[in-house]
Amino acid sequence: MADKVPDVKLNNGQLMPVLGYGTWNFFKENQVRDALRVAIDIGYRHIDTASVYKTEPEIGEAVEGKIKDGAIKRSDLFITSKLWNTYHDPEWVEFALKKSLKALRTDYLDLYLMHWPFAVDSDDKESFLFEEGLRPSKIKLLDTWRAMEELVLKGLVKSIGLSNFNAEQVGRILNDKNLRVKPVVNQVEIHPYFTNAELVDYCQKVGVVVTAYSPLAKGGEEITEQKPPDTLTDPTIVKIAKRHGKTPAQVVLRWGIDRGYTLVPKSVTPSRIKENFEIFDFSLTPEEVKEINGLNRNYKCITHLMFKDYPEFPFTWLI
Ligand SMILES: NC(=O)c1ccc[n+]([C@@H]2O[C@H](COP(=O)([O-])OP(=O)(O)OC[C@H]3O[C@@H](n4cnc5c(N)ncnc54)[C@H](OP(=O)(O)O)[C@@H]3O)[C@@H](O)[C@H]2O)c1
Repeated sequence: MADKVPDVKLNNGQLMPVLGYGTWNFFKENQVRDALRVAIDIGYRHIDTASVYKTEPEIGEAVEGKIKDGAIKRSDLFITSKLWNTYHDPEWVEFALKKSLKALRTDYLDLYLMHWPFAVDSDDKESFLFEEGLRPSKIKLLDTWRAMEELVLKGLVKSIGLSNFNAEQVGRILNDKNLRVKPVVNQVEIHPYFTNAELVDYCQKVGVVVTAYSPLAKGGEEITEQKPPDTLTDPTIVKIAKRHGKTPAQVVLRWGIDRGYTLVPKSVTPSRIKENFEIFDFSLTPEEVKEINGLNRNYKCITHLMFKDYPEFPFTWLI
């Protein structure tokens, strides 16, 4: 087992471990705190969260405890959080970040992402996706980006980036003539049934590191009760897994590494947290990567179609 996950260099020189630990969809008290302690003991150093996951306070508790125990230093960790859609107004961006910092018990973030490109207006800024009273906001994407840049300039975050942005939206930020701070990452859904090849190619070409969310194609299963097609029993994945003496999940994750991007799988189960970490002692052949690419069926776990009429809804091809 690798004792350290390899790093990727971001376009500002900062290093990010290519494998992170996802923290969405933890439902029981202390679950994410205890699972993250296990993950840190195994060797995960990159933590992916978001204010809307409501996991930041328990992550803060676990991280603070591990630092106090002397197991890690804050500087060993790469912590990402995300600006929620109701906080896009430039007046609110720093406020939202500071809330995350406080919950995470840290004075800086390694990476802060705009969670979605569309802005949502709501009387209750903590409103989540399925709640009533949400309406499109008039705030422009580039105005929010200017406020994100301020966070880097003030030293509150090391890097800023994007999530769920399509290629046109990534390009609009990069090509803005007033750009002061480049996005380093675009975090988007990628797995064998949604290979997202064009967006991955585009981001790699323009120097924006891609992070795959829902890399096991199980995103949102717990909240939407939808049952996505199961990549882990796919005969092609099972065949390749047997060939390497690895599990299907390890093959699906390694495929992402071999395509050149970073990943943030989530698990609450200690044996799976360990299993997902053990992907650095083998690699797939180019033919195997190609074979898995061929499984694409444009199946998206996370659609957020309830926002399809909002300006900047990114998945226009789904409508
Ligand atoms: N930027 C965004 O908009 C966005 C959207 C979605 C997700 N994310 C991030 O990406 C992370 C991962 O995505 P996700 O949680 O949606 O989906 P995922 O990582 O594809 O799947 C998580 C599910 O897979 C199961 N699992 C984990 N490892 C497994 C293994 N080795 N074998 C079999 N099953 C396994 C987990 O079960 P158990 O937990 O029961 O073990 C959980 O039900 C999130 O936690 C979040 O940090 C970001």
